[in-house]
Amino acid sequence: MNPTDFEEIFLPENKIQQRLDQLAAQIQRDYANQDLTLVGVLTGSVMFLADLLRRLTIQLRVDNIGVSTYRGGTKSSGDFTVTKTLWLDVKDRDVLVVDDILDSGLTLLNVRRIMQGLYPRSLRSCVFLEKEVPHLENFRADYVGFKIPNQFVVGYGLDYRERYRNLPYVATLRPAAIESTRS
Ligand code: IMP
Ligand code: MG
Repeated sequence: MNPTDFEEIFLPENKIQQRLDQLAAQIQRDYANQDLTLVGVLTGSVMFLADLLRRLTIQLRVDNIGVSTYRGGTKSSGDFTVTKTLWLDVKDRDVLVVDDILDSGLTLLNVRRIMQGLYPRSLRSCVFLEKEVPHLENFRADYVGFKIPNQFVVGYGLDYRERYRNLPYVATLRPAAIESTRS
């Protein structure tokens, strides 16, 4: 990983952490008397989910669903596969799906459909980022960390060809870095 790969640090670490304090406080209030199961969408949500979790003191359970919306480069092809199913039973539970980014909405629409088939008592979604683009079926996330313009970003769980997920901040990539990254 080379710092010259980045065009711009888009969201610095302190700004992310401050926003997470607010978001976690809101979730904490909304689910105080509920039976919360957080369902992270692998792999992009890992950093966001971990940072949310350490701020939540209410009773909750955590599980992950693995999905792959294939992206060779920076665009989605539309193919969707489940790579890991849930372990916990979420029937009659209050499920909050946690994902890294809402872009076209294809991923979260599919995850929502899968979750609905498991009969939770309530079902909401929480995304770290939402791109300001039209979402399929007008999909709306219930909790949004930051709204961002339509550009490709990496870091804080988000990857470009599985790289850069470990950055504690969000950055835009230089076009040259996009071309030179080996898969
Ligand atoms: P959607 O299905 O089009 O909403 O895209 C959601 C998935 O695509 C996310 O979970 C990410 O894995 C990936 N994705 C979308 N935009 C970006 C981006 O700007 N950087 C990295 N990954 C992205
Ligand atoms: Mg991804």
